[in-house]
Amino acid sequence: MSEMRLQQALARAGVASRRAAEDFIRAGQVRVDGMVAELGSKVDPSSQSITVKGKRVTIVPRRWLAFHKPLGVVTTASDEQGRRTVFDFLTNTKGLTYVGRLDVMTTGLLLLTTDGEAVHRLTHPRYRISRRYTALVHGRPTAEVVNAVKQPVLVERRPVVPTQVRVRPGHDGRSIVDLTLAEGRHHIVRRWAEALGLKIERLARLSYGPIRLGDLKPGESRILTNKEMDDLYRVINLTPGAEPATKPKRR
Ligand code: URA
Repeated sequence: MSEMRLQQALARAGVASRRAAEDFIRAGQVRVDGMVAELGSKVDPSSQSITVKGKRVTIVPRRWLAFHKPLGVVTTASDEQGRRTVFDFLTNTKGLTYVGRLDVMTTGLLLLTTDGEAVHRLTHPRYRISRRYTALVHGRPTAEVVNAVKQPVLVERRPVVPTQVRVRPGHDGRSIVDLTLAEGRHHIVRRWAEALGLKIERLARLSYGPIRLGDLKPGESRILTNKEMDDLYRVINLTPGAEPATKPKRR
C-alpha cells in the first residue's frame, strides 16, 4: 500500500468519517509509530503502526466485490442462530464490510468493500444513492395498484417516494413491481409494499448506485472493474485512492 494522508487512512479503515478522523487527530488521540500525529501527515499503513485512543487500527488494501446474495443467507458477520452468512461465500474477508444490508429473504446485489468511508457515504441518506429492486407480488396489477404505487407512502411518518416505479403482469396471476428508491431504511421495500396492501412473495436488488447485478448467479461474487469503481466513487464525491474531489454536497 502506498502513502496516504492519515485522515484518509483512518476513514478507509472505517474508524470514523474523514471529518471525525480529523477531529481525533486534532485532539492528539492518534499516534503513528508511537508519536502523536499531526493533521495532514502522510502514512504508509503497510509499514507503520497507527493507533486511535490507544487501539491499533488495521488498514487493509482497498477491495470491492459485487456478490449475489442467495435466499436464506444473513447479511451479518456472525449469526446467533447459526445460519449461513454472506461471509461464508467469500474468501479473504479481512476488513470487508457490506454496503447496505439485504434481508434474509431478499436476494440480489450486495456490495462489499474494505473502504469504510465509501460505505459511510453510499449508505448515508444525504447522497441519495439509487437502489433498484424487483418484487413479485400477489395478484394481478389493477388500475388502483398501478396508481397507488406512484403516490408517496408514509413509513414511520416519513414519505417513501420511488424515483421510478412500474407494475406489470407476472406469471400465475401475480404482478411484478420494478422499483427504484434513493434511500435505504431498514426493510424499506417491504414496509412500503405493506403500506400499499401489496404482498411480496420475492424481492431482489438489481443494482446499487451505478453497479448492476448483471449475470452473477446466487452465491457468486466478482471484483468490481476499474470503470465501476470510478463510477461508484464519482456518485459519492470521492476519487479512488485519493482525498474527496470536492466537499460532499448537502441536499
Ligand atoms: N428493502 C427491504 O425491505 N428489504 C431489503 O432487503 C432491502 C430493501
